[in-house]
Amino acid sequence: MKILGKSILADAGGLRIISLDIFAPEIALKVKAGQFVVLIPTAKGERIPLTVVNSDKQSGKISLVFQETGLTTRILGAMEPGDVLYALAGPLGQPTRISNFGKVILVGGGVGIAEIYPVACAMREAGNNLTVILGAKNKNFLILASEIKAIAQDYYCLTDDGSSGEQGLTTDKLNALLSKGKYDLVYAVGPIPMMREAARITRDFSVNTVVSLNALMVDATGMCGCCRVTVAGGVKFSCIDGPEFPANDIDWDELEKRNSMYLDKEKHICKLKNVS
Ligand SMILES: Cc1cc2nc3c(=O)[nH]c(=O)nc-3n(C[C@H](O)[C@H](O)[C@H](O)COP(=O)(O)OP(=O)(O)OC[C@H]3O[C@@H](n4cnc5c(N)ncnc54)[C@H](O)[C@@H]3O)c2cc1C
Ligand code: FES
Repeated sequence: MKILGKSILADAGGLRIISLDIFAPEIALKVKAGQFVVLIPTAKGERIPLTVVNSDKQSGKISLVFQETGLTTRILGAMEPGDVLYALAGPLGQPTRISNFGKVILVGGGVGIAEIYPVACAMREAGNNLTVILGAKNKNFLILASEIKAIAQDYYCLTDDGSSGEQGLTTDKLNALLSKGKYDLVYAVGPIPMMREAARITRDFSVNTVVSLNALMVDATGMCGCCRVTVAGGVKFSCIDGPEFPANDIDWDELEKRNSMYLDKEKHICKLKNVS
């Protein structure tokens, strides 16, 4: 659980995206695309789920990429190579269903770009034709672009301010591509409004669509019920049944409400602990 390496992938306007390599041989041996770990950085941090972006069975290394959004991700962001995590559990969640689907569009928004990377690698290995759409606030936050571009047949990048690629939204590009050609699967990870809009668009084109949800989690082993989502009218636990679900079966209104449930408390805790 020792931190082996650290790199800052983005650092602008007080926001950072950080990549950490961690020595976790048992996890590296078993983890598959789409799975995540839960970690507690120090005794003062909370349990947080993070996707395993890369792993290496030989060296026992896993890589995590995270945005500093609140208290625990900031504590983790302040740790350095040589430091040891207080706790780490995984791999958790169901792996992505990987098969040769045919033509696949992968959509990644913000730090969701890191989360689509292992799926892109596995989908490519399975023989799929990959079209990737990446979206970020601006060029500073466009992470892993060259790695993803290298494995995609078609690559589009969009930024809010046009500082890299086209100016616009990933979902507008998705709509444009689906209007012109036939695709077999769409896989999207990013902010809830982006995934929700992707679901709306793909429903009109009847394309099978999978999203990876960032539902709030506590124990991440199916015991607390914190991560429950309604999928096709039934209750699912995102940590053990997900985190991926068919986009058009999700009760998005409920998910949005549940994910903002603790925002005031999170801001209050950050103030108390003097973390901006
Ligand atoms: C399966 C899964 C995989 C994830 N993978 C990544 C990843 O690879 N990289 C990454 O940057 N983020 C990822 N996240 C989101 C990450 O867990 C949250 O950003 C983190 O928990 C925030 O903790 P905090 O204390 O720093 O922020 P807080 O101050 O607690 O909250 C900041 C924001 O994060 C959300 N959040 C808080 N706690 C959780 C929680 N336990 N689960 C989900 N969201 C939470 C809050 O709603 C709020 O919007 C993932 C979430 C899930 C469920
Ligand atoms: S996080 Fe507790 S049941 Fe999923």
